[in-house]
Amino acid sequence: MAMTQPARILVIFGTRPEAIKLFPVVNALKADPRFDCRVCVSAQHREMLDQVLDIAGITPDHDLDVMKPDQSLDELTARLLTGLGGVMDDVQPARVIVQGDTATAMCGALAAYYRKVPVDHVEAGLRSGNIYHPWPEEVNRKIIGSMASLHFAPTQTSASALKAENTDPARVHITGNTVIDALQWVTGRIADTPSLATALTELEQRFSGKRIIGVTSHRRENFGGGLEAIADAVRRIAARDDVALIFPVHPNPNVRKVMDDALSGLGNVAMIEPLDYPNFARLLDLSEIMLTDSGGVQEEAPALGKPVLVMRETTERPEGVAAGTAKLVGTDSDVIVTEISTLLDDKGAYEKMAQAHNPFGDGQAARRIVELLAHEI
Ligand code: UD1
Ligand code: UDP
Repeated sequence: MAMTQPARILVIFGTRPEAIKLFPVVNALKADPRFDCRVCVSAQHREMLDQVLDIAGITPDHDLDVMKPDQSLDELTARLLTGLGGVMDDVQPARVIVQGDTATAMCGALAAYYRKVPVDHVEAGLRSGNIYHPWPEEVNRKIIGSMASLHFAPTQTSASALKAENTDPARVHITGNTVIDALQWVTGRIADTPSLATALTELEQRFSGKRIIGVTSHRRENFGGGLEAIADAVRRIAARDDVALIFPVHPNPNVRKVMDDALSGLGNVAMIEPLDYPNFARLLDLSEIMLTDSGGVQEEAPALGKPVLVMRETTERPEGVAAGTAKLVGTDSDVIVTEISTLLDDKGAYEKMAQAHNPFGDGQAARRIVELLAHEI
């Protein structure tokens, strides 16, 4: 009997959040004999990407190592497009998979399209309706959506957004967000091996008795004013002696400089290096409130019943807001301070937000994606 060749799928990613949201897909494809899964990392991020590769046990087949300090979008885009195109010429994939809305995802999709290789989009259909919030991600994901073969929408809202743009409804599938698969997996790993998540033990002791607020911030559209306002809000919240803020700081020099200038030396603000995924899951668990401009954290916090204040003007993830666990607070420091204080001082307001909701998925997204891909090969 003739054996059918497994379909060669090239999975492309380059940043921390893409790696977190794609490792469940990569591991599911690798475990499935119908597929020959190859991984190409652009390494748009370096240390933060490697942290995820390590924990997920993924060794890339191709590593473009494109990260440069403080890289500009045009230079990054140019290097990504030619680099990823070259890898596709070597690998000759039957299909390409990209995730989300980074420069790597957009260039991976474009290079595949230039070769007429079908590209499938994980986390399709997120839309804020504003091309400058988030910037440049809103346009990146629209570009990918215009070329994708299969659109793996995490929710009904994202599927509807694609259909409203006249995407063929037969190509749009609601799968849930793979971030929930990743979060459940890492939580299970920590339960089996608690030593994976002990990086915060010393801080937990130092801040014992204080109410922990977890902070992250990195958005490019917040450079030039927004980050300063966020830092100011953190400094003002830290004036309370019943709280401690744990802030893994993104390595982007534009973020570091602002935060170092504004927050160094404050006793109850711990600015630390980016945490690997198990230790960040631990921070989510320890925190009473999350204060963030991150996309992924907006999805993880509701799943864990942690109120999340989102320092953005708009969100492409309205599901957390609708569920009541997330609130948009923008980047005005007065508003941020008021909203945090309300959550700290008004038990009713806190309890109302601190309900576990999983509007983003059930942990089975990767399995669904693999089955949908199997129909295409
Ligand atoms: C990128 C994505 C953004 C995503 C974010 C997740 C684009 C345009 N932006 O933004 O959508 O939300 O990743 O974090 O694709 N750096 C390091 N080490 C690292 C990672 C970054 O030193 O491991 C520093 C470098 O100086 C680098 C800078 O951060 O030049 C910016 O990295 P870049 O990937 O261009 O943009 P992000 O702001 O991280
Ligand atoms: N994260 C992490 N360590 C950290 C901060 C965040 O592992 O120190 C994880 C977090 O759990 C989430 C993802 O990184 O899954 C979010 O990445 P980021 O905020 O960089 O990007 P975004 O989601 O905004 O694109």
